[in-house]
Amino acid sequence: LKASKWNVVSKPTKNGRVLVFNSLNKGLASFDRRDVERWNDEPTDVHITPQNLPFLLGDEVDEDQLLAYHLKSQQFCNNVLDVTIVPNYSCNLRCEYCFGKYDYDQGDISRNSVERIVGWVDYLQDLFPRRNLTVVYTGGEPLLNRSLFMELAAGIKNGVHSGTTLSQSIITNGTLIDMELLRFLRDQQVNSVQLTLDGDQASHDSKRTYPNGKGTYNRVIAVLEMVVETISVVYLRINFDYQNKDSISHLLDELEARGLQTKIILNPARIIEVNRLCNSVCLERRKNEYSAAAVADYIAIYDEIVERGFRVETSICSVVGAVTPCMFHSESGFTVDCRGDVYKCNMLVGQPAYRIGNILQDYNVFGDGYRKCLNSLLEVPDGCRNCPALPICNGGCRYGSVLSGNSLFDPFCEKYLFTELGFSKIDTLIRHNIQIV
Ligand SMILES: C[S@@+](CC[C@H](N)C(=O)[O-])C[C@H]1O[C@@H](n2cnc3c(N)ncnc32)[C@H](O)[C@@H]1O
Ligand code: SF4
Ligand code: SF4
Repeated sequence: LKASKWNVVSKPTKNGRVLVFNSLNKGLASFDRRDVERWNDEPTDVHITPQNLPFLLGDEVDEDQLLAYHLKSQQFCNNVLDVTIVPNYSCNLRCEYCFGKYDYDQGDISRNSVERIVGWVDYLQDLFPRRNLTVVYTGGEPLLNRSLFMELAAGIKNGVHSGTTLSQSIITNGTLIDMELLRFLRDQQVNSVQLTLDGDQASHDSKRTYPNGKGTYNRVIAVLEMVVETISVVYLRINFDYQNKDSISHLLDELEARGLQTKIILNPARIIEVNRLCNSVCLERRKNEYSAAAVADYIAIYDEIVERGFRVETSICSVVGAVTPCMFHSESGFTVDCRGDVYKCNMLVGQPAYRIGNILQDYNVFGDGYRKCLNSLLEVPDGCRNCPALPICNGGCRYGSVLSGNSLFDPFCEKYLFTELGFSKIDTLIRHNIQIV
């Protein structure tokens, strides 16, 4: 017997217990730290039990082969056809931290691009039949140009092949939503909506504003109350940094007072500092983003959210912040924008250096760019080869790598996500008897 090299082990608690997460098979359990040490030091004395089974392997198993097989099956045998659509780069707001800050004038949806995108999604279903087609609309603001957006969402719904199941979702600032549009969204199988509220009214209104500087808090709260009555899954993202983190408690008070606690899934997120003008980041800010203090902020916010009975994502991959699998390596994951440009990452969208094709010219986007992204899955960076988080990280987020000024295929290590932050979130959920799925 041997301990799997994909066991990520937490720091011991005061009473000597550790959490172990197997990043390949996603097993998760708590053990006495001495038991885990014995897996490595005295493996012949260890007896397999249902609890330790996911963390042990026969001596003969070649774990690198096992991982390669696992990654390839995720790449080619998943049952999802994943399409993110950016209908507009422009936006009716000017949020101070927006990723898209420098991209607002890169274009908007046209009737021609609606027709081409709908046709391309039809073509993709021929190539990848009988999948769960998941379509995500984001932007810019996807609901600008309302009638063309409606043609797009309806065109995709009406073009679903027999044997394919459809689930659509939208990430929106919410300001353009009304009841009529919500009913339309529901009818097009848009079953998930994500809105954003960044703390209490003063904090939110200082960050998420109309171009004239007016805040959007009241509008978004009113829309949120409508959305929860119509759409089955509602995410509320809370972007925070050192300026607004302390106001999140007041936002929770307001959500509680409105009875929204169990009707929404909260998604706190650290604000990423982006400066696309020079196509690099304020490196120091980016590094600080997850400095020890920032991890502590995240943990405190997450704990309060769970403690107060609000819902959070409970899938193990999302709790530990798994980076892989994502669309970058999947044979059937794409982001397409209003110009018809196709990317393998929904964060690199709008940066033409990373596009893999253009569907206004040719639906076939499966050339060198596509192949390079897929093949990079098994090109493990040297420093990652023996990292226990490799199966859920695979060298890190490609967008993170580009943001830090490196090349698309360079490693980008955010190990603390899987260790400090991941284990702290798991611990919080376990303490509150919330099942991790
Ligand atoms: C770029 S927006 C586009 C969709 C829509 N306009 C909206 O605001 O939801 C997509 C998501 O990114 C988040 N976001 C934008 N800039 C960010 C940043 N610098 N750091 C973290 N999240 C950011 C927004 O809160 C939103 O949830
Ligand atoms: S609403 Fe969305 S796209 Fe518009 S400025 Fe804010 S974060 Fe950016
Ligand atoms: S980038 Fe870091 S966490 Fe990810 S596999 Fe490599 S060493 Fe591990």
